Amino acid sequence: MSSLPFDRLPRRLLITGGAGFIGSNFARYWCETAPGDRIVVLDALTYAGNRANLAELELDGRLRLVQGDIGDRALVDRLLQQEQIDTIAHFAAESHVDRSILAPDAFIQTNLVGSFTLLEAFRHHVESLRRPPLFLHVSTDEVYGSLEPEDPPFSETTPYAPNSPYAASKAGSDHLARAYYHTYKLPTIITNCSNNYGPYHFPEKLIPLTCINILLGKPIPVYGDGQNIRDWLYVGDHCQALAIIIRHGQPGENYNIGGNNEVTNLDLVERLCDLMDELAPALPVKPARQLITLVGDRPGHDRRYAINASKMSHELDWRPQVSLAEGLRQTVSWYLTHPDWWRPLLSPEYQAYYQQQYGEKNRLSKP
Ligand code: NAD
Ligand code: DAU
Repeated sequence: MSSLPFDRLPRRLLITGGAGFIGSNFARYWCETAPGDRIVVLDALTYAGNRANLAELELDGRLRLVQGDIGDRALVDRLLQQEQIDTIAHFAAESHVDRSILAPDAFIQTNLVGSFTLLEAFRHHVESLRRPPLFLHVSTDEVYGSLEPEDPPFSETTPYAPNSPYAASKAGSDHLARAYYHTYKLPTIITNCSNNYGPYHFPEKLIPLTCINILLGKPIPVYGDGQNIRDWLYVGDHCQALAIIIRHGQPGENYNIGGNNEVTNLDLVERLCDLMDELAPALPVKPARQLITLVGDRPGHDRRYAINASKMSHELDWRPQVSLAEGLRQTVSWYLTHPDWWRPLLSPEYQAYYQQQYGEKNRLSKP
């Protein structure tokens, strides 16, 4: 690593959305790899945010969790000033595509307006800062739209073509982060990553939903013909990539991060079923593949995502470490051994969402 450009040390880090899936994995990663740094999490604790994800770090004082909205300018100003923040790792977002189709409002409010508020607050804050600042904007490959089977993977120069309200709201915030670098010289970096999976993944997403439904003996809903392709990356590898970018990335740049693991949804779900058959001591329905149910498609469903991550490997010497086979095995084991984490998340509120998403239209029962 010593040959890489820059090394931003020391840091006082604000992690927005740090009580969610990737943010909490990242907070843990940062606490473990840079124990001397000050870490503050700002999280609204929406349905997707969970204090339990950070419990042990909060308890032993390794981080401070502040419950609040990134769109609350007064709160953000106060926090940046009080904590003398020099680096923002911005994860906070509404992140589920299906919810963005059912109700896009919150996506515009948080992903676009909230990101704008955070950028504005940070722009003013850094005027008085002595250390070099950085705004890391964590974004998604969905901003690039959908690929045909023979298309090359998304690169950093692929034109934006977002297809869902979620993707459009993320694309808008990417453009703002870019504009703040060009107009105000605010050091921003944008990352566009493929599908993450691993521990603390909220039950609504395909991989945890499949694991949980297998454990409950419920149908596994696979949209359309099940042939849509995603590129899966173990969340720990994403966290490592982001940490390298914070230390060594070039302001004003964007970096694509991916796992080089293109798999159809049906293939992925079948692998999860087989792992559960192998690892679970008992299952309500076995073989679990019997639970796979093709259901109505997601409107505007992107067919294929794939990432060309060669800039990350050439410029920052990063490559994913965890194979898909190993990562899925670890993930299945984690859901098997952590029912105390996921059971409380199947709340009445979640049941209502599940019913709306899968109930009538797709004729599936409760999770
Ligand atoms: P998540 O839904 O699990 O977590 C989002 C977190 O943001 C939650 O803790 C929530 O409480 C918080 N939050 C939401 N609105 C907020 C607001 N207004 N103010 C403060 N906090 C708020 O999402 P995730 O999967 O961990 O994704 C994190 C980021 O990474 C998002 O920006 C997402 O677009 C991006 N991303 C996700 C993936 C993926 O596969 N999950 C891939 C690429 C990029
Ligand atoms: O590509 C990065 C994106 O990955 C992130 O930006 C998003 O925040 C994250 O949610 C994820 O989006 P996807 O829509 O790809 O993830 P999801 O787990 O919702 O769906 C994965 C694939 O599985 C997708 O093709 C839709 C399909 N699917 C999903 C669900 C929830 C099903 O077939 N059935 C389901 O019930």
